[in-house]
Amino acid sequence: EKGGYATFMEKEINEQPHAVADTLLGRTDESGALVLDELRISEQQLRAVDKITVVACGTAAYAGMVAKYAIEHWARIPVEVALAHEFRYADPVVNERTLVVSISQSGETMDTLMAVKHASDMGALTVSICNTHGSTIPRESDAVLYTHAGPEIAVASTKAFLAQITAAYILGLYLAQLRGGSYAESAQAVMRDLHEIPAKIEELLTRMDRVEEMANFMADTRSVLFLGRNVGFPVAMEGALKLKELAYIHAEGFAAGELKHGPIALIDAGQPVFVVVPAPDTPHELHKKVVSNIQEIRARGARTLVIAHDGDEDVVPFASEVIRIPQCPPLLAPLLAVVPLQVFALHLSTAKGLDVDQPRNLAKSVTVE
Ligand code: F6R
Repeated sequence: EKGGYATFMEKEINEQPHAVADTLLGRTDESGALVLDELRISEQQLRAVDKITVVACGTAAYAGMVAKYAIEHWARIPVEVALAHEFRYADPVVNERTLVVSISQSGETMDTLMAVKHASDMGALTVSICNTHGSTIPRESDAVLYTHAGPEIAVASTKAFLAQITAAYILGLYLAQLRGGSYAESAQAVMRDLHEIPAKIEELLTRMDRVEEMANFMADTRSVLFLGRNVGFPVAMEGALKLKELAYIHAEGFAAGELKHGPIALIDAGQPVFVVVPAPDTPHELHKKVVSNIQEIRARGARTLVIAHDGDEDVVPFASEVIRIPQCPPLLAPLLAVVPLQVFALHLSTAKGLDVDQPRNLAKSVTVE
């Protein structure tokens, strides 16, 4: 049942090219335009949307944070991401023009379900991005956009995360197309770029030997920091979450721009820091800014574990290790950059002799508060 892999998590990491490809399947017509028949909300209602609120927990919320950057860029609709357990007991500004997008692998997370009900009661349109057919959250929502990652058995989410980002991107591109605007034209081009991602993940998965070695060396590590910027910021937090869950190591993800506002005080000799470097063509010179962050922490003795695109030579002088990912457009990079972080957590957990698929104290689906 584990298809020759030692653990479900390893199997599911290796299924990620399919998770993305299958989630992309059948979302465009012959002309290349996006069609979301399954959405079941009228175009008129969707055109009237003036705000999107994503509600989710854990890894699914990080998928929402990644999607915020892309949806705002493409569809020009403000997106906020709320942890479902915070949203449901707060006094959120939600009405008939709000599209509440829940993201859940299981479709059974109690807090996310209650957030959706809370939003419905306030008159919002609700869309569920979900991996489990017939589960409760899609049933309670106006519409559903299924991720096709296949069953995820390991407690720690991997392939569902990539499928969630993919589905949220499809929704963002669909909204861009529907509403006209300057990105309506590019929606099809972005879909083509997305279709290239599965092969790039496949290629990336063949490069993970060094990441495994690094994890084996680091079995005694007590703390690991993760830095990222723009879409790399939620990737950094997801990398930290994987390490907490699987290897019980204190880990924290930061926005790289925050370094000087506090976290840089944590840097001392030998502190391992993963840095998710933006694609070199990311707007606003963010690449350069992150490279200078790497330089700053390296100068303070950090062990810089740098995730950078193929051909990015700027990082080399300041990197203790460079982990290469294939080139891709800046907004799609999370679908690649998170993979080495998943693999690192998996092997560190194994190196510590821990149960990869069933970490202590965790349940696959949190159906209580
Ligand atoms: C992390 C993880 C959790 C889930 C969260 C939401 O690896 O698995 O953080 O992402 O509990 O679960 P779903 O997506 O089922 O609502």
